[in-house]
Amino acid sequence: MRILVTGGAGYIGSVSVERLLAAGHAVWVLDDTSTGHAAAVPPEVRFSRSTYADENQVTRLLVDNAIEAILHCAARSLVGESIRNPSIYYRANVVGGVALLEAARRAGVERFVFSSTAAVYGVPVASPITELAPLDPINPYGETKRTFEGALRWYGTAYGLRSIALRYFNVAGASERNGEDHDPETHLVPTIIGALVSSLPMTLFGGDYPTPDGTPIRDYIHVEDLADAHLLALEATSEPIQPGVEAAVPLNLGTGTGFSVREVLAAAEKVVGKPVPHTIGPRRAGDPPILVASAERAREVLGWTPRRGSLTEMIGSAWQWRQTHPGGYDQA
Ligand SMILES: NC(=O)c1ccc[n+]([C@@H]2O[C@H](COP(=O)([O-])OP(=O)(O)OC[C@H]3O[C@@H](n4cnc5c(N)ncnc54)[C@H](O)[C@@H]3O)[C@@H](O)[C@H]2O)c1
Repeated sequence: MRILVTGGAGYIGSVSVERLLAAGHAVWVLDDTSTGHAAAVPPEVRFSRSTYADENQVTRLLVDNAIEAILHCAARSLVGESIRNPSIYYRANVVGGVALLEAARRAGVERFVFSSTAAVYGVPVASPITELAPLDPINPYGETKRTFEGALRWYGTAYGLRSIALRYFNVAGASERNGEDHDPETHLVPTIIGALVSSLPMTLFGGDYPTPDGTPIRDYIHVEDLADAHLLALEATSEPIQPGVEAAVPLNLGTGTGFSVREVLAAAEKVVGKPVPHTIGPRRAGDPPILVASAERAREVLGWTPRRGSLTEMIGSAWQWRQTHPGGYDQA
């Protein structure tokens, strides 16, 4: 398959590119490197350093290279920033996203896989969360992802676009080649690793949640398991996903197991062999106590099973990547 990956220089996109290449697909990366790194793109991949929001340019790229499917990983994805500045999020994730859909339509690309998020559910009413749970995002980030999922559905109904929206829970870990290098870093595992390396204390946001140890519980998924799901999802768009079902399919990607922040800290201490310096701060606005996925539907539809579900594997691979990239990509 000839696949365009937007955001292929980012954390999840770059590991997915590796997986697609290993499966024998031809890959093009479109990334403006606003939060990604050119060094994350393997030299054999054709790399266009520009935005997915330029409809005419993307249409040309799709037509000239006879692209058959798009994996859309690029987005703005910081919750706090989205609350402070929703305009950036609507422009990038919705307006830009629709420009990409229009380019796909003009170029006749009918297969689309989208990086969505558990943030579309907001504060869930039940756990584990299934795809039938109400969508009620509590920040502009989640809202713009939900809006784009809606566009996928209607483009499916009207224009025959076949799409899968993968709703990721908390992604962690690294491949041998690619890992997480964000500035600012808001994710737990790289923040723990940063605290271990610098010996500067990190802050746990709240120790008084209604959970057994008082810290929030999340469902962590290894980035390489996620990459496997992307490959399967792209392959699954070759024909209508399930007869009689609408053309746009949302699927949760998690392991179905929750770990508290303290449990992740303890696992990191075991992997690295020293204590994680930390302090307890106030809760962060909009952090639900528990977010755990039911990934049953992804198993059924894609035949996907997470194979690297232990915290040791996720933290161990992230730690290993940090050892080989002490300054991140720029000083590798
Ligand atoms: N990391 C997680 O835990 C997580 C969880 C749920 C959902 N997601 C979603 O997964 C996707 C990838 O996340 P990530 O953690 O790899 O983020 P990332 O910031 O590492 O990767 C995003 C990439 O998109 C690129 N990009 C941004 N705007 C662009 C534009 N207009 N044109 C071209 N490229 C652009 C960035 O340069 C970057 O390389 C995002 O859509 C995010 O919302 C991530």
